Amino acid sequence: MENYVNHSPIEAQYPDLPGKTMVVTGAAQGMGRLFASQLASRGVNVVITDLSDAVLDTAAEINQELSEMVLQTENGRVIGVVADVTKKQDHEKTLSAAIEEFGGLHGWINNAGVFPEAASLDIPESQFDLAFDVNTKGTLFGSQVAAGYMKDHGGGAIVNMASVAALRIRRGRGSYNTAKAGTLQLSYSLAVELGDFNVRVNAVAPGFIDTAMTQWVHEREGALDHALGNVPLHRIGAPVEVFAAVLFLLSDSARYITGSCISVDGGSRHV
Ligand SMILES: NC(=O)c1ccc[n+]([C@@H]2O[C@H](COP(=O)([O-])OP(=O)(O)OC[C@H]3O[C@@H](n4cnc5c(N)ncnc54)[C@H](O)[C@@H]3O)[C@@H](O)[C@H]2O)c1
Repeated sequence: MENYVNHSPIEAQYPDLPGKTMVVTGAAQGMGRLFASQLASRGVNVVITDLSDAVLDTAAEINQELSEMVLQTENGRVIGVVADVTKKQDHEKTLSAAIEEFGGLHGWINNAGVFPEAASLDIPESQFDLAFDVNTKGTLFGSQVAAGYMKDHGGGAIVNMASVAALRIRRGRGSYNTAKAGTLQLSYSLAVELGDFNVRVNAVAPGFIDTAMTQWVHEREGALDHALGNVPLHRIGAPVEVFAAVLFLLSDSARYITGSCISVDGGSRHV
């Protein structure tokens, strides 16, 4: 794995971020966990959510890790909330936790996702529903709750996790491709309507990133070679490389950017 994942840190610091409060959904593991720990290491207070109690352990682990690090700025704190992104009331619970614990909300990352597989002719209704419920409806509900608060409090930034699959077909992932294309169009729709309130909405479209979601590529014969054959930079990406784009979009340095999508895919959307 060391051969193709670049573990060097992302050094960028944005001076407007320390002291802000942000939410990351689906953050018990994977990219969401990394986003939360990186934000907190830059002085951002973070509420992380996920389906199970594991998210509470993750929050405790990140706080412990931060307490052992020497940082350039005082670190933020992370709290966990058990919340299902398909339920709007769970997003409201998450917002309440952010306000009660940290006094407000400035950023929200709709990160939770599922990546089901089936040939398009065989996609069961339940799979199609789940793909849309989590990836697309979860993003809608999260954005509604976040922007509902932000528009009355001076604005904010929302970042939605789309995928290269929203731009280029991944064989056997018809429900995911379709749901993530919906996530992207939803992001653009929200951006157009929320500009009046200084709420910026952008998307990030990762390619193959090294998380539990892509472990199958290491396990199936020939899958890694096939995947890398479609990546001009010839390697799988690291979560921290996606974070670099997310961080920029959340910061005031992106203050004139809304309704955009940054691809972090080693160029694979073109192949
Ligand atoms: N890993 C990749 O290569 C890749 C590429 C493109 C896009 N993405 C997207 O990035 C995001 C993060 O992916 P990851 O690779 O870290 O995946 P992951 O599977 O490691 O993490 C996804 C998290 O979402 C949580 N989740 C699922 N359903 C949920 C629900 N209903 N409510 C709350 N949480 C829920 C899971 O429990 C899990 O912790 C996803 O939206 C994914 O689609 C990933």
